[in-house]
Amino acid sequence: MKTRTPEAHLLPQVDLTRLPQHIAIIMDGNGRWAKKRRLPRIAGHRAGIRAVRQVVEACARMGVRCLTLYAFSVENWKRPHTEVKLLMDLLREYLKKEIAELNKNNIRFGAIGRISNLPPLVQKDLYTTIEKTQDNTGLRLTLALNYGGRAELIDAVRDLVTHLHRDGALDVNAITEDELSRHLYTRDLPDPDLLIRTSGEMRLSNFLLWQVAYCEIWVTDTLWPDFKEQDLFQAVADFQKRERRYGGLG
Ligand code: FPP
Repeated sequence: MKTRTPEAHLLPQVDLTRLPQHIAIIMDGNGRWAKKRRLPRIAGHRAGIRAVRQVVEACARMGVRCLTLYAFSVENWKRPHTEVKLLMDLLREYLKKEIAELNKNNIRFGAIGRISNLPPLVQKDLYTTIEKTQDNTGLRLTLALNYGGRAELIDAVRDLVTHLHRDGALDVNAITEDELSRHLYTRDLPDPDLLIRTSGEMRLSNFLLWQVAYCEIWVTDTLWPDFKEQDLFQAVADFQKRERRYGGLG
Protein backbone atom coordinates (compact mmCIF):
# COMPACT_ATOMS: atom_id res chain seq x y z
CA MET A 1 0.00 0.00 0.00
CA LYS A 2 1.25 3.45 -0.89
CA THR A 3 -0.04 6.27 1.27
CA ARG A 4 -1.70 9.15 -0.63
CA THR A 5 -1.80 7.36 -3.98
CA PRO A 6 -5.39 6.13 -4.12
CA GLU A 7 -6.38 4.02 -7.11
CA ALA A 8 -8.48 6.34 -9.22
CA HIS A 9 -11.03 3.66 -10.10
CA LEU A 10 -11.94 3.10 -6.45
CA LEU A 11 -12.49 6.75 -5.73
CA PRO A 12 -14.36 8.29 -8.62
CA GLN A 13 -16.82 10.10 -6.38
CA VAL A 14 -14.41 11.58 -3.81
CA ASP A 15 -12.75 14.99 -4.13
CA LEU A 16 -9.36 14.44 -2.47
CA THR A 17 -8.83 18.19 -2.05
CA ARG A 18 -11.87 18.51 0.26
CA LEU A 19 -11.55 15.55 2.59
CA PRO A 20 -12.93 15.58 6.12
CA GLN A 21 -9.99 16.24 8.43
CA HIS A 22 -11.24 13.92 11.13
CA ILE A 23 -13.56 10.94 10.68
CA ALA A 24 -15.04 9.29 13.78
CA ILE A 25 -16.81 5.92 13.59
CA ILE A 26 -19.28 4.13 15.85
CA MET A 27 -18.64 0.54 14.77
CA ASP A 28 -21.92 -1.21 15.52
CA GLY A 29 -23.46 -4.51 14.47
CA ASN A 30 -20.80 -7.13 15.16
CA GLY A 31 -23.24 -9.15 17.28
CA ARG A 32 -26.02 -9.02 14.67
CA TRP A 33 -23.55 -10.00 11.93
CA ALA A 34 -22.59 -13.10 13.93
CA LYS A 35 -26.20 -13.94 14.83
CA LYS A 36 -27.24 -13.87 11.16
CA ARG A 37 -24.61 -16.54 10.54
CA ARG A 38 -25.39 -18.53 13.73
CA LEU A 39 -21.88 -17.79 14.96
CA PRO A 40 -20.78 -16.74 18.47
CA ARG A 41 -20.66 -12.95 19.04
CA ILE A 42 -16.89 -13.02 19.20
CA ALA A 43 -16.80 -14.16 15.54
CA GLY A 44 -18.53 -10.87 14.77
CA HIS A 45 -15.86 -8.92 16.66
CA ARG A 46 -13.15 -10.83 14.82
CA ALA A 47 -14.77 -9.98 11.49
CA GLY A 48 -15.03 -6.40 12.80
CA ILE A 49 -11.27 -6.23 13.06
CA ARG A 50 -10.96 -7.05 9.37
CA ALA A 51 -13.20 -4.05 8.66
CA VAL A 52 -11.02 -1.92 10.97
CA ARG A 53 -7.94 -2.83 8.93
CA GLN A 54 -9.62 -1.94 5.63
CA VAL A 55 -10.92 1.40 6.85
CA VAL A 56 -7.64 2.41 8.50
CA GLU A 57 -5.77 1.60 5.33
CA ALA A 58 -8.29 3.42 3.12
CA CYS A 59 -8.13 6.56 5.30
CA ALA A 60 -4.34 6.56 5.22
CA ARG A 61 -4.37 6.07 1.46
CA MET A 62 -6.89 8.87 0.87
CA GLY A 63 -4.93 11.30 3.03
CA VAL A 64 -7.46 11.74 5.88
CA ARG A 65 -5.64 13.33 8.84
CA CYS A 66 -7.43 11.68 11.79
CA LEU A 67 -9.58 8.60 12.33
CA THR A 68 -11.15 7.83 15.71
CA LEU A 69 -12.84 4.47 16.31
CA TYR A 70 -15.23 3.67 19.18
CA ALA A 71 -13.85 0.29 20.20
CA PHE A 72 -15.02 -0.11 23.82
CA SER A 73 -17.36 2.14 25.80
CA VAL A 74 -17.63 2.62 29.55
CA GLU A 75 -21.01 0.86 29.23
CA ASN A 76 -19.48 -2.21 27.52
CA TRP A 77 -18.27 -3.55 30.91
CA LYS A 78 -21.91 -4.60 31.45
CA ARG A 79 -21.51 -7.32 28.81
CA PRO A 80 -20.85 -10.92 29.93
CA HIS A 81 -17.37 -11.32 31.41
CA THR A 82 -16.36 -13.80 28.69
CA GLU A 83 -17.20 -11.33 25.91
CA VAL A 84 -15.31 -8.50 27.65
CA LYS A 85 -12.29 -10.76 28.15
CA LEU A 86 -12.37 -11.85 24.50
CA LEU A 87 -12.65 -8.24 23.33
CA MET A 88 -9.58 -7.32 25.41
CA ASP A 89 -7.69 -10.33 24.02
CA LEU A 90 -8.65 -9.35 20.47
CA LEU A 91 -7.45 -5.82 21.09
CA ARG A 92 -4.09 -7.07 22.34
CA GLU A 93 -3.79 -9.39 19.34
CA TYR A 94 -4.66 -6.51 16.98
CA LEU A 95 -2.07 -4.19 18.55
CA LYS A 96 0.71 -6.78 18.42
CA LYS A 97 -0.01 -7.74 14.82
CA GLU A 98 -0.54 -4.20 13.60
CA ILE A 99 2.55 -2.26 14.76
CA ALA A 100 4.59 -3.14 11.67
CA GLU A 101 1.71 -2.24 9.33
CA LEU A 102 1.09 1.05 11.15
CA ASN A 103 4.74 1.99 10.79
CA LYS A 104 4.85 0.92 7.16
CA ASN A 105 1.94 3.24 6.47
CA ASN A 106 3.27 6.14 8.58
CA ILE A 107 0.26 5.93 10.95
CA ARG A 108 0.52 7.38 14.45
CA PHE A 109 -1.50 5.45 17.01
CA GLY A 110 -3.28 6.89 20.06
CA ALA A 111 -5.94 5.96 22.61
CA ILE A 112 -8.57 7.99 24.47
CA GLY A 113 -10.74 7.03 27.43
CA ARG A 114 -10.13 6.01 31.03
CA ILE A 115 -7.11 4.00 29.94
CA SER A 116 -5.75 3.54 33.49
CA ASN A 117 -8.81 1.39 34.33
CA LEU A 118 -8.11 -1.11 31.54
CA PRO A 119 -6.37 -4.41 32.36
CA PRO A 120 -2.62 -3.80 32.93
CA LEU A 121 -1.52 -5.96 29.98
CA VAL A 122 -3.83 -4.06 27.63
CA GLN A 123 -2.37 -0.77 28.91
CA LYS A 124 1.13 -2.08 28.34
CA ASP A 125 0.37 -3.02 24.72
CA LEU A 126 -1.35 0.31 24.12
CA TYR A 127 1.63 2.32 25.42
CA THR A 128 4.05 0.19 23.41
CA THR A 129 2.06 0.86 20.23
CA ILE A 130 1.81 4.59 21.03
CA GLU A 131 5.56 4.80 21.64
CA LYS A 132 6.58 2.79 18.60
CA THR A 133 4.46 4.88 16.23
CA GLN A 134 4.97 8.29 17.84
CA ASP A 135 7.23 9.68 15.12
CA ASN A 136 4.88 8.83 12.26
CA THR A 137 3.46 11.86 10.49
CA GLY A 138 0.56 10.43 8.45
CA LEU A 139 -2.89 9.36 9.63
CA ARG A 140 -3.60 9.70 13.35
CA LEU A 141 -5.49 6.58 14.37
CA THR A 142 -7.16 6.87 17.77
CA LEU A 143 -9.03 4.08 19.54
CA ALA A 144 -11.66 5.11 22.09
CA LEU A 145 -11.35 2.51 24.85
CA ASN A 146 -13.22 2.49 28.15
CA TYR A 147 -14.51 5.72 26.67
CA GLY A 148 -17.64 7.71 27.55
CA GLY A 149 -18.40 11.26 26.41
CA ARG A 150 -19.85 12.24 29.79
CA ALA A 151 -16.91 10.66 31.64
CA GLU A 152 -14.58 12.66 29.39
CA LEU A 153 -16.38 15.90 30.24
CA ILE A 154 -16.20 15.12 33.97
CA ASP A 155 -12.46 14.35 33.65
CA ALA A 156 -11.92 17.56 31.67
CA VAL A 157 -13.77 19.72 34.22
CA ARG A 158 -11.88 18.13 37.12
CA ASP A 159 -8.59 18.69 35.33
CA LEU A 160 -9.44 22.27 34.41
CA VAL A 161 -10.62 23.23 37.90
CA THR A 162 -7.52 21.65 39.47
CA HIS A 163 -5.39 23.61 37.02
CA LEU A 164 -7.18 26.89 37.75
CA HIS A 165 -6.96 26.34 41.52
CA ARG A 166 -3.24 25.84 41.20
CA ASP A 167 -3.03 29.39 39.85
CA GLY A 168 -4.77 30.82 42.95
CA ALA A 169 -8.41 31.76 43.59
CA LEU A 170 -10.75 30.17 41.04
CA ASP A 171 -11.92 32.64 38.40
CA VAL A 172 -15.04 31.12 36.81
CA ASN A 173 -14.67 33.42 33.80
CA ALA A 174 -11.52 31.48 32.95
CA ILE A 175 -13.78 28.50 32.12
CA THR A 176 -14.34 29.01 28.40
CA GLU A 177 -15.06 26.67 25.50
CA ASP A 178 -11.46 26.90 24.29
CA GLU A 179 -10.09 26.26 27.78
CA LEU A 180 -12.34 23.25 28.37
CA SER A 181 -11.36 21.85 24.94
CA ARG A 182 -7.74 22.00 26.04
CA HIS A 183 -8.54 19.55 28.86
CA LEU A 184 -10.40 16.95 26.81
CA TYR A 185 -8.74 13.63 25.90
CA THR A 186 -8.85 14.90 22.31
CA ARG A 187 -7.01 18.15 23.07
CA ASP A 188 -4.47 17.61 20.29
CA LEU A 189 -7.00 16.50 17.66
CA PRO A 190 -9.34 18.65 15.57
CA ASP A 191 -13.07 18.08 16.16
CA PRO A 192 -14.47 15.36 13.88
CA ASP A 193 -16.23 16.72 10.82
CA LEU A 194 -17.75 13.38 9.78
CA LEU A 195 -19.29 10.84 12.15
CA ILE A 196 -20.17 7.45 10.65
CA ARG A 197 -22.41 4.96 12.41
CA THR A 198 -23.04 1.46 11.08
CA SER A 199 -26.02 -0.88 11.54
CA GLY A 200 -28.74 1.73 11.32
CA GLU A 201 -29.16 3.11 14.82
CA MET A 202 -29.65 6.90 15.03
CA ARG A 203 -27.83 7.42 18.30
CA LEU A 204 -24.61 9.04 19.54
CA SER A 205 -24.19 6.42 22.31
CA ASN A 206 -22.12 8.75 24.50
CA PHE A 207 -19.40 9.18 21.84
CA LEU A 208 -17.42 12.44 21.57
CA LEU A 209 -20.40 14.47 22.81
CA TRP A 210 -18.58 17.80 23.00
CA GLN A 211 -16.58 17.33 19.83
CA VAL A 212 -19.49 16.46 17.48
CA ALA A 213 -21.25 19.81 18.01
CA TYR A 214 -20.98 20.75 14.30
CA CYS A 215 -20.19 17.33 12.86
CA GLU A 216 -22.01 15.80 9.88
CA ILE A 217 -23.58 12.45 10.79
CA TRP A 218 -23.80 9.62 8.26
CA VAL A 219 -25.64 6.41 9.16
CA THR A 220 -25.70 3.20 7.15
CA ASP A 221 -27.68 -0.01 7.68
CA THR A 222 -24.55 -2.01 6.82
CA LEU A 223 -23.29 -4.01 9.81
CA TRP A 224 -19.74 -3.10 10.83
CA PRO A 225 -18.08 -6.38 9.70
CA ASP A 226 -19.57 -5.80 6.21
CA PHE A 227 -18.36 -2.18 6.03
CA LYS A 228 -15.86 -1.87 3.17
CA GLU A 229 -13.70 0.92 1.82
CA GLN A 230 -16.35 1.56 -0.83
CA ASP A 231 -18.81 2.43 2.01
CA LEU A 232 -16.23 4.82 3.42
CA PHE A 233 -15.80 6.51 0.03
CA GLN A 234 -19.59 6.82 -0.23
CA ALA A 235 -19.75 8.45 3.22
CA VAL A 236 -17.03 10.93 2.26
CA ALA A 237 -18.68 11.69 -1.10
CA ASP A 238 -22.03 12.34 0.64
CA PHE A 239 -20.27 14.51 3.23
CA GLN A 240 -18.80 16.58 0.42
CA LYS A 241 -22.27 17.25 -0.99
CA ARG A 242 -23.53 18.72 2.28
CA GLU A 243 -23.55 22.42 2.99
CA ARG A 244 -21.97 23.17 6.36
CA ARG A 245 -23.16 26.40 7.93
CA TYR A 246 -22.14 26.16 11.61
CA GLY A 247 -25.34 27.92 12.65
CA GLY A 248 -24.83 30.83 10.25
CA LEU A 249 -26.72 31.60 7.04
CA GLY A 250 -23.98 30.27 4.77
C1 FPP B 1 -20.45 -3.18 18.44
O1 FPP B 1 -20.99 -4.39 18.05
C2 FPP B 1 -19.02 -3.17 18.51
C3 FPP B 1 -18.29 -3.17 19.70
C4 FPP B 1 -18.84 -3.33 21.03
C5 FPP B 1 -16.88 -2.98 19.73
C6 FPP B 1 -16.19 -2.83 18.42
C7 FPP B 1 -15.10 -3.78 18.40
C8 FPP B 1 -14.48 -4.24 17.30
C9 FPP B 1 -14.75 -3.77 15.93
C10 FPP B 1 -13.47 -5.30 17.46
C11 FPP B 1 -12.29 -4.85 18.24
C12 FPP B 1 -11.69 -3.62 17.68
C13 FPP B 1 -10.37 -3.33 17.70
C14 FPP B 1 -9.91 -2.06 17.15
C15 FPP B 1 -9.39 -4.26 18.23
P1 FPP B 1 -22.09 -5.02 18.99
O2 FPP B 1 -21.47 -6.17 19.67
O3 FPP B 1 -22.68 -3.99 19.87
O4 FPP B 1 -23.13 -5.46 17.90
P2 FPP B 1 -24.71 -5.65 18.08
O5 FPP B 1 -25.26 -4.28 18.40
O6 FPP B 1 -25.15 -6.15 16.73
O7 FPP B 1 -24.91 -6.64 19.18
